[in-house]
Amino acid sequence: MSIPVIRASQSLNNVRYEIRGKLARRAHEMERLGYEIISLNIGNPGAFGFRTPETMRLAMIENLASAEGYCHQKGIFPAREAVVMQQQNRGVREVTAEDVFIGNGVSELIDLCLRGLLNDGDEVLVPSPDYPLWSAAVTLNGGRAVYYACRPENGFVPDPAEMAALVTPRTRAIVLINPNNPTGAVYPRETLLAIARLAEQHKLVVFSDEIYDEMTYDGAESIPMATLVHDTLCCTLSGLSKIWRACGYRVGWAVFSGRREGAGEYLQAIELLSSLRLCANVPGQWAVQTAIGGYQSIKDLVRPGGRLHASRAAIIAGVARSKYLQLTPAPQGAMYSFIGVRPDVVPHFDDQSFAMDLLENRHVLVAPGSSFNVPYRTHFRITHLPLPDMLDEVFRRLEDQLDAHVQASQGAVAGSAAPLTLKAVR
Ligand SMILES: Cc1ncc(COP(=O)(O)O)c(C=O)c1O
Repeated sequence: MSIPVIRASQSLNNVRYEIRGKLARRAHEMERLGYEIISLNIGNPGAFGFRTPETMRLAMIENLASAEGYCHQKGIFPAREAVVMQQQNRGVREVTAEDVFIGNGVSELIDLCLRGLLNDGDEVLVPSPDYPLWSAAVTLNGGRAVYYACRPENGFVPDPAEMAALVTPRTRAIVLINPNNPTGAVYPRETLLAIARLAEQHKLVVFSDEIYDEMTYDGAESIPMATLVHDTLCCTLSGLSKIWRACGYRVGWAVFSGRREGAGEYLQAIELLSSLRLCANVPGQWAVQTAIGGYQSIKDLVRPGGRLHASRAAIIAGVARSKYLQLTPAPQGAMYSFIGVRPDVVPHFDDQSFAMDLLENRHVLVAPGSSFNVPYRTHFRITHLPLPDMLDEVFRRLEDQLDAHVQASQGAVAGSAAPLTLKAVR
């Protein structure tokens, strides 16, 4: 008797999220066999000992008794009101709690916002490289991601003129990720202004993913897109996961600003979709007001002497020591480096097979650049979350693997992919 095959929906055919894909599954398998893997593929601060500010935990515990029922589909009022104040402090005027939607992380809101907007074949301008959830959510909702390049030689900053040339009658929205994951670029004001004018000219919705907004280095300034977009709808997305190191709380927010006349039907669609999933995680929402108010501990982590600053410095130094790697420019924001392998010294480099070799042979897990929807295969992304000592060890292993790769491609070393015995990493 033949076994009936249960097929997945065809809507998933082109949906990819490789950061948690084949490589991550292999790393997990190796860990179960007892290997110690240094996982640099996911921006999960808690996994590297970063803690959520204590007061947020206290706020949640204090309010647990008020968190047992469903709340309003848009989120609890104190959380939405706190987000309004945060926006006001950043110079965003004319938003009220009515314009704020709280979701189970920015991830859920990305899906809701696109699902409420797109019809089959609608186009969305998405950065390349991107945070791949954006591409996946566009595709899942019947849209087509049209990529605008953020090239290494331009500091990973997009070119608004190139973006303008990609707009068609089917274009509905522009996605910005600033500060950027995976590149760490922080966009200059002139670039953001030009993108704002482009969106206004074509009445495109601007989705500005600013989840890393307060994670900047060397005086880089992260400018809220909502302060620049006035004559079209702007949706700013952020949440507790990164700045407040609370990704397990699953709390994010979407704030609608700019021109809301004419957007009523769309905003009602988002409210309908929010109602269909009843509400976001309520206990986590009680931490929002405490998070947003008062002193921001992220400042201590990103300033000179802070842990994220030190890890970023270790990465910059590791790349500078390498014969093979380049990082231009150094990341100005967020908590990732998108590291390039110099094509002049490493011929035939393939990011996917290199990442697998690195995992199998050196027990380090990185995210290949092509997972972020770029057309080239010369980059990989690592997080800045480990301590500098561990990053130094990572760069030793990267260099060893690249030495082996180069020697193997010169035919000098046979069997360079044989597993090595590694010393324990603290
Ligand atoms: C740019 C960007 N947007 C959104 C998310 C999703 O965050 P959340 O934990 O709020 O779902 C991430 C997570 O890494 C991210 O890097």
